[in-house]
Amino acid sequence: MAGENRDAASVGMSADEQARMVEEQMTDDERFSLLVSVMGVNDVVTVRDERIPEGVPMSAGYVPGAPRLGIPPLLMSDASLGVTNPGYRQGDTATALPSGIALGASFNPELARQSGGMVGREARSRGFNVQLAGGINLARDPRNGRNFEYLSEDPLLSAVLAAESINGIQAEGVISTIKHYSLNCNETNRHWLDAVIDPAAHRESDLLAFEIAIERAQPGSVMTGYNKINGDYAGGNSVLLQGVLKGAWGYPGWVMSDWGGTPGWEAALKGLDQESGLQLDIMMWQKEWFTAPLRQAYAEGNVPKERLSDMVRRILRSMFAIGVDRWGSAPEVDLAKHNEVALETARQGIVLLRNDGALPLATGTTARIAVIGGHAQIGVPTGCGSSAVLPPGGFAEVIKVGGPGIMGVGRNLYLLPSPPLAELRKLLPGAEIEFDPGMNPAESALMAARCDIAVVLAIKLDSEGFDDPDLSLPWGQDAVIEAVAAANPNTIVVLETGNPVVMPWRDRVRAIVEAWYPGQAGGQAIAEILTGAVNPSGRLPVTFPADLAQTPRPDLPGLGTPWGTPVTIEYAEGAEVGYRWFAQQHQQPLYAFGHGLSYTTFDYSNLHVEGGDTITATFTVTNTGQRVGADVPQFYLTSAAGEERLRLLGFQRVELQPGQSRQVTITADRRLLARFDGPDGITGSWRMAEGTYQVAVGKSAHDPVLTADMPMRGS
Ligand code: BGC
Repeated sequence: MAGENRDAASVGMSADEQARMVEEQMTDDERFSLLVSVMGVNDVVTVRDERIPEGVPMSAGYVPGAPRLGIPPLLMSDASLGVTNPGYRQGDTATALPSGIALGASFNPELARQSGGMVGREARSRGFNVQLAGGINLARDPRNGRNFEYLSEDPLLSAVLAAESINGIQAEGVISTIKHYSLNCNETNRHWLDAVIDPAAHRESDLLAFEIAIERAQPGSVMTGYNKINGDYAGGNSVLLQGVLKGAWGYPGWVMSDWGGTPGWEAALKGLDQESGLQLDIMMWQKEWFTAPLRQAYAEGNVPKERLSDMVRRILRSMFAIGVDRWGSAPEVDLAKHNEVALETARQGIVLLRNDGALPLATGTTARIAVIGGHAQIGVPTGCGSSAVLPPGGFAEVIKVGGPGIMGVGRNLYLLPSPPLAELRKLLPGAEIEFDPGMNPAESALMAARCDIAVVLAIKLDSEGFDDPDLSLPWGQDAVIEAVAAANPNTIVVLETGNPVVMPWRDRVRAIVEAWYPGQAGGQAIAEILTGAVNPSGRLPVTFPADLAQTPRPDLPGLGTPWGTPVTIEYAEGAEVGYRWFAQQHQQPLYAFGHGLSYTTFDYSNLHVEGGDTITATFTVTNTGQRVGADVPQFYLTSAAGEERLRLLGFQRVELQPGQSRQVTITADRRLLARFDGPDGITGSWRMAEGTYQVAVGKSAHDPVLTADMPMRGS
């Protein structure tokens, strides 16, 4: 039969037909064995789980295959920022990419594709055939501890980048998930969190991101979130799983729970196809659902045979469609090339927020430069949690941080071995560069005062399992920056954060750079941007608020309550996430979504728009400055049939020589011009009101340069 299965593929049987044919041959034992994954360790510490055969690498999830039928085992590994299995990684290293939010800031789908390909190749070379990647939750709250893993606050930008990253992974014959479906937008007490939202607004925001990404990439699996949505746990939410995902969108792949996020065997009747990491369900809920309880329910006639077959076929279908049953030899892994992908992502993701001419630092400078703080003599930080990747050569340092609850044990500040201090010394050989740890504002000020220029690196640790309490920099770093800026008028700040921060010192420093968590080559990228070896081109994928009072939830429900406290967060902003909210409230943020400076200048001209079913804009971008650079012109809807409504309709990254022009054409996805109309969020449709639609081409969500009106028919 193993041979028969391969023959089926070679005679052109579809993945669905193949799945049906193979599933029909299976015993019930084989069927049930596909529905549960086992973590590499059985006590979340070190002991190898005895259900995992010798020789199988430790990973986040193992599902035995059925060799007699040509079904290989599934080996699941985290995640989007590189191949990693924290807790079970046994020294295995992989290329550590910059954070997802840095990729978001590149606005570059091609780069997403390359980083996906890199992750896919490294996963496959280690034998992992499911990559738990594709994190796409919208950054609704600037305190969310996992925003660094995700891409942006905008559904289109997130969908386009996630789709390319998934396409890159799956092109290597590795299944990718997309996660965490849906509205897993805060970490505070995430297992007890009820995320409440208007269903139509959900369709126009987080669900639209999933919808577009799934259309563009057909990920083999969808991972649910830990939270409830409108009262029902994501893992057993029939409205979202049966109604929207499998019903309205016709999704053919399988739905897996998050680790410890299976709400009960009944979830199988509501759309969940596989329980993940069964040991974590036992730890969380003192119960595991998809082995004995599901079998018992089946034996008692409470789970129809058709549903069992459907669960199994969905898994098989993705395996056959993506080809994990047809692996030949492992692809070649060129770590030097992969380092280039990490470096290029960091370069394109770094955002120059403010510059009054202090940057770039002249490469021939003989100035005395104080480099202060951020552990810049050691490396660059990375976000913490299941996405943290152990880079080649290991971490430069692991500083234990800790915290309450079960996530506190693994809360560490990981430093990747790319120290900005050494990289700056390389690129500025004539400068006299000194280092101060930024431990004490007065001490830092002493060094800053005797130098010509001060570069402060400020870091903030974000982690899965924790939301930030506020938007300030931790460890007294705001005070350090204030003291340094008071001592030296040429102060430059480099932020290495996973989220927006407030900047009480903003007007007292000459330049601000947001480098996010820039990955294993991050120090080099920071030095290249500061010295102009690379012209900054990143654009903010999230709005930087002036303070929390500007955001939809100045007080975050549940923040600070003990682990296990039930929390309800009403996402009352609905679809008006991020920049959309700021436009609706007529608020001016600290830095707008889409904002990012360059060492050259760009001009837009000749906007021409065409209507019909949707709107297409054509315009010209010109590099009007003296340096080669890349721009990201953005196309927005600003009002629809008399209603003020801000929506990113499209974007394009354009690289231009000085004086060079390029014509850009962007066609809007009609769903971004429309509203979702329907009471239950499932049965409705996208409707456009008749009237004049106003659009703009701009440099950010709040900086339109060219505008046009377009009359549209209602539909
Ligand atoms: C995370 C997932 C991850 C899984 C497996 C969970 O804690 O939420 O994103 O894929 O662990 O490591």
